[in-house]
Amino acid sequence: MSSEKVKILVTGGTGLVGKAIAKIVNTEENRANEEWIFVSSKDADLTDFDATKALFEKYSPTYVIHLAAMVGGLFKNLKYNLDFWRMNIKINDNVLHNAYLHKVKKCVSCLSTCIFPDKTTYPIDETMVHNGPPHDSNFGYAYAKRMIDVQNRAYHKQHGCQFTSVIPTNVYGAHDNYNLEDSHVIPGLIHKCYMAMKKDEPLVVWGTGKPRRQFIYSLDLARLMIWALREYNEIDPIILSVSEDEEISIKEVAELVAKGMGMTKELVFDTTKSDGQFKKTASNDKLRKLRPDFKFTDPSIAIKESCQWFLDNYETCRK
Ligand SMILES: NC(=O)c1ccc[n+]([C@@H]2O[C@H](COP(=O)([O-])OP(=O)(O)OC[C@H]3O[C@@H](n4cnc5c(N)ncnc54)[C@H](OP(=O)(O)O)[C@@H]3O)[C@@H](O)[C@H]2O)c1
Repeated sequence: MSSEKVKILVTGGTGLVGKAIAKIVNTEENRANEEWIFVSSKDADLTDFDATKALFEKYSPTYVIHLAAMVGGLFKNLKYNLDFWRMNIKINDNVLHNAYLHKVKKCVSCLSTCIFPDKTTYPIDETMVHNGPPHDSNFGYAYAKRMIDVQNRAYHKQHGCQFTSVIPTNVYGAHDNYNLEDSHVIPGLIHKCYMAMKKDEPLVVWGTGKPRRQFIYSLDLARLMIWALREYNEIDPIILSVSEDEEISIKEVAELVAKGMGMTKELVFDTTKSDGQFKKTASNDKLRKLRPDFKFTDPSIAIKESCQWFLDNYETCRK
């Protein structure tokens, strides 16, 4: 990115990832020539082409980080596969086409490691996105997300657009969704731990606690997405994840949450509940080659900060 004055529009700018990017660009990555605009569905319903066009006309962005999406946990996905497909296809098509019409210099969109083929070899890497059907539970969301990569290549081939995507693993941090039915693992455990402590009961973790996952702190993801916008120049996606040896078990995560929340009782594992897939390891070799210097925040610090944010914002957070 040059040093001339630029405007960066962030769709989905009020969510978990958007708030983290806002925090980082307002502090350590602040640059005088960059104006950042963070928008939510209140500024424009991006499923609507005219509303999306009006948003682009209002701000005339030079760059776009596209985060807006219908997002949800396992149960919401199982119930609403059609809605996930339709909403996300519309949002992505409207945003990318308006980015093209407004001659946006680069657009970085967000995929997810949960869109990779269900039956695959591990570790997963960037070349495997389209190598087979996704898990049946979230096929609507997964196929819609995969189409972003198809569109990026098509806009590049036909119009020379610099549209690309990043693939984060499970994200957590401040401004997460703590809804007990609909949340991801870490915010769900934080909220469950809070409720258990209120009732003076232990934290019950579903399953054996043995499955292993790669998590990324929202502030680390924000740093890497800002870097991708400024310096990553491929159309092909890049996985943004901690290394394979930094994968941690659900038990270790639950212990860090319990510690972060100040829970003193022993954890209880409800082994009648399913464990899900044991591992879904993703490779971050591509990232490591481009950013050998990048240091991920220690999960004990990041989870502690996430717990503290939840406690400080309990009344107003999404739950
Ligand atoms: N969270 C994860 O673990 C994870 C992992 C991998 C990838 N991702 C991807 O990262 C991106 C950001 O996720 P997140 O966790 O930050 O999501 P989030 O907290 O649920 O935020 C979603 C954002 O999208 C906006 N949005 C939703 N529907 C919209 C619409 N019809 N029109 C305009 N804006 C709309 C929301 O605005 P309102 O608040 O106004 O509704 C909100 O700002 C998504 O593309 C997601 O697929 C997330």
